[in-house]
Amino acid sequence: MSVLQSSYPYYLANEAQMPNTDLAVTDKFSGEVATRVALADAAAIDSGIAAAVEAAEPMARMAAYERQDVLNHCVSRFRERAEELAIALCIEAGKPIKDARGEVSRLIDTFRIAAEEATRLKGELQTLDISPRARGYRGMWKRVPIGPCSFISPFNFPLNLAAHKVAPALAVGCPFVMKPASRTPLGALIMGEVLAETDLPRGAFSILPCSRDGADLFTVDDRLKLLSFTGSPDVGWDLKARSGRKKVVLELGGNAAVVVDHDTDIDDAVERIIFGAFYQSGQSCIGVQRIIVHASIYEEVKAKLVARTASLVAGDPREEDTFIGPMISEGEASRLDGWIQEAVAAGATLLCGGKREGAMLEATLLEGVDRSCNAYTEEAFGPLAILSQFTDFEAALEEVNDSKFGLQAGLFTRDFYKVQRAWDVLDVGGVVVGDVPSYRVDNMPYGGVKDSGLGREGVIFAMEDMTEIRNLVIRNLGLP
Ligand code: SIN
Repeated sequence: MSVLQSSYPYYLANEAQMPNTDLAVTDKFSGEVATRVALADAAAIDSGIAAAVEAAEPMARMAAYERQDVLNHCVSRFRERAEELAIALCIEAGKPIKDARGEVSRLIDTFRIAAEEATRLKGELQTLDISPRARGYRGMWKRVPIGPCSFISPFNFPLNLAAHKVAPALAVGCPFVMKPASRTPLGALIMGEVLAETDLPRGAFSILPCSRDGADLFTVDDRLKLLSFTGSPDVGWDLKARSGRKKVVLELGGNAAVVVDHDTDIDDAVERIIFGAFYQSGQSCIGVQRIIVHASIYEEVKAKLVARTASLVAGDPREEDTFIGPMISEGEASRLDGWIQEAVAAGATLLCGGKREGAMLEATLLEGVDRSCNAYTEEAFGPLAILSQFTDFEAALEEVNDSKFGLQAGLFTRDFYKVQRAWDVLDVGGVVVGDVPSYRVDNMPYGGVKDSGLGREGVIFAMEDMTEIRNLVIRNLGLP
């Protein structure tokens, strides 16, 4: 199946460079080295930033149709290379091939949205003559690119979460330097290969896998005007504290909850929850972690969830029917295994799953988890979900909010008044009704509150962050 090259260059100021092949990328299922990648040092990152500074002015001068052409080129090349991209994800992230293909189709969506939005950067005419002193004055504002941007992207969606930074930057005309996750750099590097086929100004992009030690410049260098980070909360908030004067966007973790009310179609809810909790082994910031079910249907929902979970096919992510592949590393699987054991020791009941072999952890359901346990309070980021029951809808909403995170929440109900109540009181970035919190379309505002982050992605929202408002005031000298 492997379509991987034996080595991959990094991209410095739009050019492929291979000064070394120091970064080994493993096949996350077999554990074997799948390919090798050039690793950037601090000097290369410094050059990438300097080139981005040089590119800021020519990028800002690009016409909207030129930016759109670049994005459309990416769309067609990603379509042509879709299966190769999916296989790369399958190998480097251990992502089941169907999920990998799904991510590639979302990558294409994200670039397609950006191509459309590149020609729609809006401004506004403003009435300024609000009092006698402003008589004869008019205002108007437009958006201008913020300048060189710094992007740090995560391992769980190596293509699409990188795309949520790269595509908006190109749509508004910002150069960027990007550090892809070192465990999964291939998707971003193939993106670099496609961008290198365009005539973007030199320095428009640098894609530089590097070790954590070399990575500091992405955060601290003042020539960079915006830092957009997707990854773990601890790292994200620490980067923000060290980011100086940059604008900072953080897309961090969550322990998303879904509420299942008594009036819902149980089979439909169960199918969606299985997907939301366990697709790509739960390694999504909006994976379902807490399932809060009305007491009158709890036993039925529980029995159906357990039966479906036990039927999920686990194994080689290359196989078409595999649903549960490996977690990103044995260390991560062992961490979550420990949390499951901790919860059981504190009185939780293991409903199914719970066994681990290396990086393969079974899809696991628990009930009766004490609210002080890691499985309840922290982000599982793996194939674990916990069940609880409610009788009072307000108490269910309070349980959703009983979290330091607030990314998205799901609600299965047919009661429109409960929908409005949930939308009003849930302290999250988004409420999804009739589906799981894990649902995302790439043009919607996406991001969290509390420990889950700062700012929103979703192409136009990132485009806003990557621009500054520049105002114009005109005094009409012809008026009395
Ligand atoms: C994430 O894990 O934050 C992204 C989830 C998604 O884009 O579906």
